[in-house]
Amino acid sequence: MHRWSIAACYTLEVAKVIVGVGGGIAAYKAALLVRELGRRGHTVKVVMTRAAQRFVGPVTFTGLTGEAPVVDLWDPSYAGEVHVELAAWADGLVVAPATANLMARAAHGIADDALTATLLCFDGPRVFAPAMHHRMWDHPATARNVATLAADGVRLAGPVSGPLASGESGMGRMAEPETIAEALEAALSDGRPADDLAGRHVLVSAGGTREALDPVRFLGNRSTGRMGYALAERAAARGARVTLVSAPTALAIPPGVDRVDVTSALEMKAAIDAARDGADAIVMAAAVADYRPSERADDKLKKTGGPLTVTMVRNPDILAELGAWRADSPRSGAGPVLVGFAVETRDLVAAARGKLERKRVDLVVANEADAAFGRATNRVTLVDATGEEALPELDKARVADRILDRVVALLRR
Ligand code: CTP
Repeated sequence: MHRWSIAACYTLEVAKVIVGVGGGIAAYKAALLVRELGRRGHTVKVVMTRAAQRFVGPVTFTGLTGEAPVVDLWDPSYAGEVHVELAAWADGLVVAPATANLMARAAHGIADDALTATLLCFDGPRVFAPAMHHRMWDHPATARNVATLAADGVRLAGPVSGPLASGESGMGRMAEPETIAEALEAALSDGRPADDLAGRHVLVSAGGTREALDPVRFLGNRSTGRMGYALAERAAARGARVTLVSAPTALAIPPGVDRVDVTSALEMKAAIDAARDGADAIVMAAAVADYRPSERADDKLKKTGGPLTVTMVRNPDILAELGAWRADSPRSGAGPVLVGFAVETRDLVAAARGKLERKRVDLVVANEADAAFGRATNRVTLVDATGEEALPELDKARVADRILDRVVALLRR
């Protein structure tokens, strides 16, 4: 694998990739995956099962890769053994679509065609993108095979829930090509010493603040803290010293992370202000309450016959105050990289751009409320002064890495 610098700031791994195409209707999307991998700079060779050729013609892949796909274990154009040569050539391997039958054969080490024989010879990063009817996906035999493959080190991209070939809807639809390409790149970069934040101090806030009404009740929000914790975990994995200021969550402290527990917005502000000097980057992933009850009752509030009226007062906007603090510092323009989040229900990018300017930060990570809360994945748009980049739906750790890639680039300015 080679590391190329693109446009002076982003780095991209380019790799030699085998795309194994199984026999399912989603095989047409394998063509889009091959094109996506090519667009990302990877060199692709395609191996097709016999059934795959009933869904999409080999010539399609010849057009996309400049090379005829391998469809036959006995291909005479290979002097040696085609599966052994392919496996020796590749840095990574994707199976898309991974049908129930193909996963069963792979899980049991059956090698009766070019693709399954190559799978047995290849021990590098492997990603399977399952696609099948939801009843096949739910079947215990498939579940056993998936568990076996996972134990053997295979990563899964998808499946996702949605319309299926049968006209029904359910879990079993192949993940989108971009998501599969991202999963492969994540698998390829595993084990690589990722130290591009070594020597840096990254301050992350996470979780939803709780604003107390009385000793037993609070006003809160739907944030679970997963995005902020993923950021803290990935920043630490990339070599940073990480301080995580966390509102209450059910999550464990990520390895190597220094966690400061807080409850309310005012406590979070105090903890952030105490840690901000010397930080190289501050990422405000927390959902901070904009208002708090004007007073907290000393005793539990008792119900009455009438309505309850609570007066709320504004909380400080921690991120906006960090933006102002940085702008007003004697070394104006210096100071930490500032990243904010914007969870919106409408006009996502416009609202994020407004926050970028109003809060004077470097990057705003915008997401739709329903795509964000409590889920393992997230679909975000990165908004900065130069434009916006819409990312596909990704695992939160991968979203964290993409945000940290931007932080690394901003630190190099
Ligand atoms: N934030 C903060 N302090 C607050 C509220 C929000 O630091 N009191 C931070 C969040 O951590 C997030 C960003 O600001 O990074 C966006 O929060 P949001 O509430 O969406 O921003 P507002 O400008 O308050 O949004 P709106 O104008 O829509 O109320």
